[in-house]
Amino acid sequence: MPFTIIRNDITKVTADAVVNAANNSLLGGGGVDGAIHRAAGAGLLRECRTLGGCETGQAKVTKGYDMPCKYIIHTVGPVWQGGAHGEKELLYSCYKNSLILAKEKGCASVAFPLISSGVYGYPKDKALQVAVSAISDFLSENEMDITLVVFDKNAVSVSEKLMSDIRRYIDDNYAEEHCDSPYRSRNVFGGQMFRKAAPKAVQLSEDICAAPISFENMDETFSHALLRMIDERGLTDVQVYKKANIDRRLFSKIRSDTDYRPKKQTAISFAIALELDLEETERLLEKAGYTLSNSIKFDVIIKFFIENKMYDIFEINETLFAFDQSLIGG
Ligand code: APR
Repeated sequence: MPFTIIRNDITKVTADAVVNAANNSLLGGGGVDGAIHRAAGAGLLRECRTLGGCETGQAKVTKGYDMPCKYIIHTVGPVWQGGAHGEKELLYSCYKNSLILAKEKGCASVAFPLISSGVYGYPKDKALQVAVSAISDFLSENEMDITLVVFDKNAVSVSEKLMSDIRRYIDDNYAEEHCDSPYRSRNVFGGQMFRKAAPKAVQLSEDICAAPISFENMDETFSHALLRMIDERGLTDVQVYKKANIDRRLFSKIRSDTDYRPKKQTAISFAIALELDLEETERLLEKAGYTLSNSIKFDVIIKFFIENKMYDIFEINETLFAFDQSLIGG
């Protein structure tokens, strides 16, 4: 997935390049800097001594040593001074210059910490906005797997208003306790749709829901429907898979294999990228054998964004992350 957010210790993350939140001396420190130097070993400090320091907003590269990466990219974030001293531009440059270096080194994957949001005091929500902005700008022109590694879950804070709107929507719509309610027009469980021949009141049970009974005969595959909708909207493939946070290779696979059945998250990502309404989304998902169910919190959150015509996949993923749900894209 081109952009994803995970919660982990960055020294445990495997990527072609891992970015260090360093200071101007490049001679180590606390936080991420200290953790990476400890994990990489003494060789890293020896090489850093040869670099002659690093300006704020700039980036320099060393080998990865004992870290699970080929390279460590050292960048120096701005110290937060209230936001009127060019902090946002300097922080944006940290991500941009690190990604340029990673691309020059031929890296296919990069892991970032949330730069400046620790010792340097940059408010985490603002730091996240800058990180997402810089990374999404880079991904609009480049192919790379970029992971934002946050140490504590509250580092990914979604606006209080959005959180309260979604919590209210979940309260109104989430039907976890009713998922075994009597038969409805469609048996939905686990996000897969089962249509029985003769509707009758049945208790949803594990076995019924475990094995797909049969999917309605679809005269158009998911892949055909997706490509048709891209054409109908006058969009290009690149525009759609970038907006869907879908890897180019995965899109090529879907385009070339007309019977390809995507994961549910992938199918939803395309619905978001195409800015489909709820009914159009359900129809597209149905082509892959899925439906949105009120008994799945992930689905309810997706329905919130679609019903409110909010199609920024980065904002959706930050929210899904905040609710401990899997992210969309592929
Ligand atoms: N893995 C992932 N994230 C981490 C880790 C880790 N092992 N350790 C800390 N973090 C998080 C922090 O919670 C924070 O959100 O990384 C973010 C950046 O925090 P810092 O490491 O303090 O970096 P920064 O705020 O940029 O300050 C840089 O701190 O460590 C010194 O030498 C460094 O002087 C420099 C300053």
